[in-house]
Amino acid sequence: MIMIFTLIVIFLLLLAICIIAWDKIIVGKVPFISLPNEIITQVLAHITIRPDTTVYDLGCGDGRVLIQAAQKQPRATYIGIERAFWPYLLAKYKTRNIPQITILRGDITKIALKKSALVICYLLPELLAKIPYSGQSVISVEYQIPGRKPNKKVVLKKHSRLVSKMFFYNAN
Ligand SMILES: C[S@@+](CC[C@H](N)C(=O)[O-])C[C@H]1O[C@@H](n2cnc3c(N)ncnc32)[C@H](O)[C@@H]1O
Repeated sequence: MIMIFTLIVIFLLLLAICIIAWDKIIVGKVPFISLPNEIITQVLAHITIRPDTTVYDLGCGDGRVLIQAAQKQPRATYIGIERAFWPYLLAKYKTRNIPQITILRGDITKIALKKSALVICYLLPELLAKIPYSGQSVISVEYQIPGRKPNKKVVLKKHSRLVSKMFFYNAN
């Protein structure tokens, strides 16, 4: 009996190590660093979300941007896409009672985005450059999309060590 229990524990430990290694080494080229809640509040204060809008958070982490956005405008539709396993699971769990939010596991460089949607992202420039935009308005927190001129830049009043500005791109 003790033997079986020990084997199960060892198996679970190995499984956990494999999942973490997969997340860190294979998947997590852009780290999971969440925006602080007070920064999200400020970011959302600069955005108007209409009830008929679909809002994406590309690389949604634990879903906190979408959760705050859905509190602000409950009648819109929200989609979060996340590739790394743990943040995806966390986002799924945290949004389980918010029907207007859908969390999908996928690669944002290979996604077909709905036209006329609003895209919010907090990603490094090399990843921003690989997203297949096709008629969406984009709000990029902190980083500019390489090769595209923003239509507007906003400097955040209260900012953190990592985040101080956001860029607006009209649909192209
Ligand atoms: C800086 S975090 C931002 C998290 C969240 N949007 C926030 O602001 O709190 C970037 C997220 O993008 C995810 N990510 C990186 N590359 C991705 C890809 N190709 N497809 C989907 N998600 C990706 C990472 O796993 C990470 O959770």
